[in-house]
Amino acid sequence: MAATDSHEKPVIAVRDLCKTYFMPGGMSQSVLKDVSFTVNSGEFVAIMGHSGSGKSTLMNILGCLDRPTSGVYELAGKNVSDKTDAELAIIRGREIGFVFQNFNLLMKRSIADNVSLPLIYQGIGEKDRYERAVQMLHKVQLQGYEDRLPTQISGGMQQRVAIARALINNPKIIFADEPTGNLDSKTSDEIMELFTDLNRQGITIVLVTHEDDVADYARRMIKIGDGRKVYDGLRADYEKDEA
Ligand SMILES: Nc1ncnc2c1ncn2[C@@H]1O[C@H](COP(=O)(O)OP(=O)(O)O)[C@@H](O)[C@H]1O
Ligand SMILES: [Mg+2]
Repeated sequence: MAATDSHEKPVIAVRDLCKTYFMPGGMSQSVLKDVSFTVNSGEFVAIMGHSGSGKSTLMNILGCLDRPTSGVYELAGKNVSDKTDAELAIIRGREIGFVFQNFNLLMKRSIADNVSLPLIYQGIGEKDRYERAVQMLHKVQLQGYEDRLPTQISGGMQQRVAIARALINNPKIIFADEPTGNLDSKTSDEIMELFTDLNRQGITIVLVTHEDDVADYARRMIKIGDGRKVYDGLRADYEKDEA
């Protein structure tokens, strides 16, 4: 199946997406400019581009952490472009898992607490939360680490805890912004193998990276240059073009 086959219903559809940051004193910066693409269920997409090109801005919109200034974003067939913060939070909880470069763990809370944190907002009791955390930690090969603190495990393990946390609501999509940016290359490969496994299980993966080795795990690549989409196609074809 080609990366751009359209017989499936897209889980992500953005049309003419623009984002402008307005600064105090009347200054503004146009960061995303008319970005359009769709992502089908089950795809593995790498978003690439130089530092400052707008990748995180795009990811934050796709992950419902922020809203576009103009344009349309449809997530799982629903227009989410102008939802309120509270509505976006509910959509995030239902559809999306997010993985960050800095893991974003609570360093004074146990690994089980970190993983099950999203369940607190659903009113799920402590015992059930712990059991779900144990299940998720099993998926990332961290069984037995439930009661440790994040400070007692390696960076690669901390990122696996963050992935377990992202999985706890059975998301359809995982957004990962430079998830290997703080890891050595061997650990990066282990994390990317884990994302590949999750993708094989049917989870759509959208990953930001500026590292070629990391992008090679994705089938499709979208490249952003100065806020515009400058490439969208098979990752393998892009390498051939560049060679
Ligand atoms: N909250 C913000 N307010 C103002 N400017 C921002 C904000 N976030 C990002 N920017 C600016 O937008 C541009 C793109 O940033 P970003 O999306 O983080 O790029 P990337 O992730 O590709 O490095 C940069 O010039 C950055 O300074
Ligand atoms: Mg960034």
